[in-house]
Amino acid sequence: MCGIVGYIGNKDAKEILLKGLEKLEYRGYDSAGIAVLNEEGVHLFKEKGRIADLRFIVNEQVKANVGIGHTRWATHGKPSKVNAHPHQSATGRFTIVHNGVIENYEQLKAEYLSDISLKSDTDTEVVVQLVEKFVNDGYAVQEAFQKTLKILKGSYALALLDEENKDVIYVAKNKSPLLVGLGDGFNVVASDALAMLQVTKEFLELMDQEMVIVTRENVEIFDLDGRKVERKPFIAELDASDIEKGTYPHYMLKEIDEQPFVIRTIIQKYSNDNGELVIDQNILGAINQADRLYIIAAGTSYHAGMVGKNIIERLAKIPTEVHVASEFGYNMPLLSEKPLFIFISQSGETADSRAVLVQIKKMGYQALTITNVPGSTLSREADYTLLLHAGPEIAVASTKAYTAQVAVLSILAEVVARSKGLPIDVDLVHELGIVASAMEELCDTRDAFEQIASDYLSFARSSFFIGRTLDYAVCLEGALKLKEISYIQAEGFAGGELKHGPIALIEEGTPVFVLSTQENVNLPIRGNVKEVAARGANACIISMKGLEMDGDRFVLPQVHELLTPLISVVPMQFIAYYAALHRGCDVDKPRNLAKSVTVE
Ligand code: F6R
Repeated sequence: MCGIVGYIGNKDAKEILLKGLEKLEYRGYDSAGIAVLNEEGVHLFKEKGRIADLRFIVNEQVKANVGIGHTRWATHGKPSKVNAHPHQSATGRFTIVHNGVIENYEQLKAEYLSDISLKSDTDTEVVVQLVEKFVNDGYAVQEAFQKTLKILKGSYALALLDEENKDVIYVAKNKSPLLVGLGDGFNVVASDALAMLQVTKEFLELMDQEMVIVTRENVEIFDLDGRKVERKPFIAELDASDIEKGTYPHYMLKEIDEQPFVIRTIIQKYSNDNGELVIDQNILGAINQADRLYIIAAGTSYHAGMVGKNIIERLAKIPTEVHVASEFGYNMPLLSEKPLFIFISQSGETADSRAVLVQIKKMGYQALTITNVPGSTLSREADYTLLLHAGPEIAVASTKAYTAQVAVLSILAEVVARSKGLPIDVDLVHELGIVASAMEELCDTRDAFEQIASDYLSFARSSFFIGRTLDYAVCLEGALKLKEISYIQAEGFAGGELKHGPIALIEEGTPVFVLSTQENVNLPIRGNVKEVAARGANACIISMKGLEMDGDRFVLPQVHELLTPLISVVPMQFIAYYAALHRGCDVDKPRNLAKSVTVE
C-alpha cells in the first residue's frame, strides 16, 4: 500500500513526481503529496484525495529539480491533509515519504521523542523526527539516518530530503518494494518501475535493510552497517504503452478484454518448439518430491487457488490444500512430511502471503511463487517462480490475473501429470485455445451482461452467487468482484449450504446468480434454484452449453469441464463492471482499497 517516488536531476521535478504518482495510484489513493527542494528551501504540497486533487494545489511557479512524492492508503491515522505524506521534522529541515508500517513507533516515540509534539497520527512522522534528533545529537545526516533505520521495526520504503543539501535523496528499504531508476544526469526512486518508465527503463533492485545515497550522477547502496553493496542494474521489460488505457473508459474493461490474448500468450510462453507444454525441470522435481501441496494466497488469488487445487488433484493426483494467507501463519495446520508451498499473487507483494513465505522458509521448506511481476518480493524470496505473463494489471479489481493464474495452474497440473506418466484425457493446448475463443465470444456479448446488471442489480442492496464444486469457487470470485466495485452486498455460497442458514436472507426480489457448468451437479444446483425461487429470489442462471435448461438467462460456450472457471468468470466480471458503472462508482479505484496490499 502507498506508493513513493523521488527525482533528482536537472529537470523540473514536480511534473515527473506527479506523473509517477499517477502511475502508482493503484497502490493507494486516500491522499497524496510532494515535496520539492530548491534554493529557497522545501516546498510542500499535500491534499486529501487523488493525485488530480493534488495537482490542483501544486504551485506551478515553484521550480526545483529534486523532490519526493507519495500516494497513500491509510494505515495509521485517517485519510486527511495532516496525515498525508511527506512529513517533516520539528524544524522542517528533514522531509520524508514512507510506504510500510513502523510497528514500534509508539515505543520509539516514548523512548526518544517525548519532548516533541507530533503533528500527525502517522507512524511515519516518528522516523523523520528521529533523524533530526540524531542530527541534533551530533551525528552526520547519513549516520543519523542509518542509526534511525537500525531501531525501526516493521516495513519501510523511505525517501528523505535534507533542506541543507539539495544534492541528495536518502533512501532505504525493508520489506516494502523500492527501486532506484538510473538516468543520464538524473536518478529516480519508485515503489514500482511503472512510475518511472516515463524517464528510464534501467533500474536497480534494492534488498531489505539497505540504505541508498542517490545523487544526480551516482547511486551508492550500503547495508545498515555502512558496508558498500555492489549491484547490477536490470532493464524493466515493460512498455509505457502497456500501462495506458488507450480508448477504454476504464482499465478494468480493458483488462477483461485482454483475457483471450493473455491465455494465448501463456500457451505460447509455456510451450516448447514441438508445441508441448513445459515447466522448468527444477520446479517439476520439487513438485514430484512433495507429498502435498499447500497453496497460499489472498482474495482473488485465493479463489484461483481453489480452482487450481481441483485441477491439480484431478490431473496430477497430488493432495493439495488451499489456505488464506492471513490465517495460515497464525493457525498453521499439521503439515505433511514433504510439503511444497505454492504462493499465488498477482503483485508478488502481498504482505500476508509474504509473512507465510518467511515463516515456512525458516522451517526449511521450499516455495514456488506464481506471480505477474518478475522480481517482486514473493518471486525473489521463493525458490522458484512461474510468471503469469498477463501484462500490468492496473484496475484494483483483479480480472486477467485471475484467469492467468488458473491457466498457469492448469498447465502446471498437466505437465506434472505427464511427468508422472499418469493418463491424461485432456489436450490442454487445444482446450486452452478453445477457452481463448470462448472468452472472445463472451467479450463480444458484453451488452447481454450489461442488461443483466441492469435487470438484476439496479435496485439491489444485497445479492447471492451460488454454485457447486468448481462453480462455487467462481461464485466466490463473482461475489468479490461485485461487492468490491459496486458496494452491493454480495455473498458466494456453495449451493447446498444455503438451506443451512443463508437462505434466511432471501427476500422477494433478492438477486441470486447461479452458475451451472458441471454436469455432475447440474441437477442438484437447479434444486437449489427452486429452493430460493420458492422464497421470492430473482434467480439469474448462467449455464454451459449442453447443460442448459428452459429459463436460463445466459448459456456459455462449451469448454472442457475442468477449464470452465476461465470462462464462467467473464460474465461475473462484466456484471460487476456494469453494476458499478450504472451506480456511478469509481470502477478502477473503489473506495477503501488498494491494488497491492503490502501491510498485514
Ligand atoms: C480483488 C483483488 C484482491 C487481490 C488480493 C491479493 O479483485 O484484487 O482480492 O486478489 O489482494 O493480491 P495479490 O494477488 O497481488 O497477492
